[in-house]
Amino acid sequence: MAKIKIAPSILSADFSRAGEEIKNITLEGADVIHLDVMDGSFVKNITFGPKFIKDVRSFSNAIFDAHLMIVNPWKYVENFASAGADIITVHQEACGDKLIETLKLIKSFGVKCGAVINPDTPVKSIENAIEYCDMVLLMSVFPGFGGQKFIPEVLPKLEETARLIQQTGKEIDLEIDGGITLDNVKLVKDAGANVIVAGNTVFKSLDRAKTIKQLREL
Ligand code: DX5
Ligand code: ZN
Repeated sequence: MAKIKIAPSILSADFSRAGEEIKNITLEGADVIHLDVMDGSFVKNITFGPKFIKDVRSFSNAIFDAHLMIVNPWKYVENFASAGADIITVHQEACGDKLIETLKLIKSFGVKCGAVINPDTPVKSIENAIEYCDMVLLMSVFPGFGGQKFIPEVLPKLEETARLIQQTGKEIDLEIDGGITLDNVKLVKDAGANVIVAGNTVFKSLDRAKTIKQLREL
């Protein structure tokens, strides 16, 4: 069983106090800081770029997980690696037949890499890329915004991906992102997810440390 890692998404944090929020959430038990990068083109929202990540890097020793929801991600992966991302994930829908090439490019900058698919993209589309990944990310909402409702159709996809990961014989994390709550976290873990992204569930909680602990232990 792969280690469970809790990854609060700072999309739900207060950006005016981003450094402090990242520092606190790390002290409250986060293993990973999930950084949602949106360009207003691949998704209908805009967040931040490499400079933001560089500026907040010193506030935490947790793993920085940059989820790139941008077009032509290969143009920017070097900038995100230099900014301090530990792992960079790119969407299959943004890379098309350049997915494996982009994963190799990310690795060439000395950071880990991952492939992401949207709720309506089949696992088959990344089957050949999985062996190049350090992590696979399945979206359980359509990307763009925090606080959306979990799409349960991702559960069989998690099981399918977990099987493919096992077949590689490699240690590859399986991350789930979107609408994760204390009510569905056990379901996604049972289906094979070990890296649990949670935005609203963590940041809107009155006791963030307790919520992180519950997400880990449920
Ligand atoms: C959605 C983002 C998610 C989002 C998750 O596009 O990729 O990381 O912040 O937020 P919640 O957990 O609130 O659905
Ligand atoms: Zn995300």
